[in-house]
Formats: sequence, C-alpha cells, structure tokens
Amino acid sequence: MNLLDYLPTIPDFPKPGIMFKDISPLLANQTAFSYAIDQLHELSTHHDFDYILGIESRGFIFATALAQKSKKGLVLARKPNKLPKQVFSENYGLEYGKDSLEIQQDILPKQSKILLIDDVLATGGTLIAAANLVKKSGAKVVGSLVLLEIFELMGRERLLNENIPSNALIK
Ligand code: PRP
Ligand code: MG
Repeated sequence: MNLLDYLPTIPDFPKPGIMFKDISPLLANQTAFSYAIDQLHELSTHHDFDYILGIESRGFIFATALAQKSKKGLVLARKPNKLPKQVFSENYGLEYGKDSLEIQQDILPKQSKILLIDDVLATGGTLIAAANLVKKSGAKVVGSLVLLEIFELMGRERLLNENIPSNALIK
C-alpha cells in the first residue's frame, strides 16, 4: 500500500508558496489509516519509552492511536492558553508563521522517557519546541516519530543537531 496516494499536496495553502500535505484522505480511508498506525507502531518499538507526547493538533490523532496500541500514557503538548495549572511554554517559528506549545509542569515524571509524535516533520521547529518542553520537565526525549518527513526542509538535520533521533514512516 502506497500511503502517499492518500496524502495529496495542496499548493499555496495556507499561504502562497507553501506546499501543504493534506492528511484528510488518509484518515478517511480505514485501511490506509490502520496500516499507517500499524507501521508507526512497528517503528515505535525501536524505542524504550514511558510516555507518548502528542502535539496539537494533527499530532494528537497519531499520538492517541499509538498510545493505545503501545499501552503507554499520552501527554498533550498544546497550543497556548488551553491547559489549566502551571505550564512550561516554548515559542517556535513555523514555515507559515509563529506559534507556541505548552505542557503542564507536573505531568511528566522526572527522568521519564518520552517519545514525541507528530504528523509531519517539515523544518523541525515544532518537534524541537516539544523536546524543549520535555527537557524543562526534567524528563528525557528518546526519539521522535512522524508519519511524513518533508526531506527538503532539513528538519532531520536540525533535530540531530539537538540530539533528537527522528524517524518517519514516509520520507
Ligand atoms: C504542522 C504539522 C506539524 C508542523 C511541522 O502543524 O502538523 O506539527 O506543522 O512543521 P515544522 O516541522 O516546520 O515545525 P501546524 O502548526 O500547521 O498545526 P496543526 O497541527 O494544528 O494543524
Ligand atoms: Mg501540527
């Protein structure tokens, strides 16, 4: 099964010059979605981890499915001002703008091993921000895993410079 058949590229969305990868057809196709989760789960078994960190919002979809399949807890990295109680925050640059992510300060046990999950690795800014939140918590990033890596944007190199191992189901 070629998952790229279910991941069309939409030019000039959300801004001119951006080639947007749309995950909607993959999610809508039960066979393709299940296959993607099975394959991502296989890749996740290469890591020893205690929790999955899912990144809002498209990352939540894959993180939830993998947490259930791996029988691990799911921790949410959310967009700003969504989480109650004290949070750690990280600002980051996106291909098409700026944003920030937050996690609750008391949710990750210190020294726990965390696998970062998102849908797409582009510039790597999002996963680096998520990794910084884990570090602020005193926990340890053991790796990152995405459905799709956009190779040309060199996110993998940026992650490696930060000592974050990365893997992608589709490159
Ligand atoms: C997209 C995508 C990844 C991120 C990848 O999320 O879902 O999270 O960009 O880009 P990067 O590697 O350059 O950081 P986006 O912020 O568009 O929001 P969404 O997940 O809420 O749709
Ligand atoms: Mg995202």
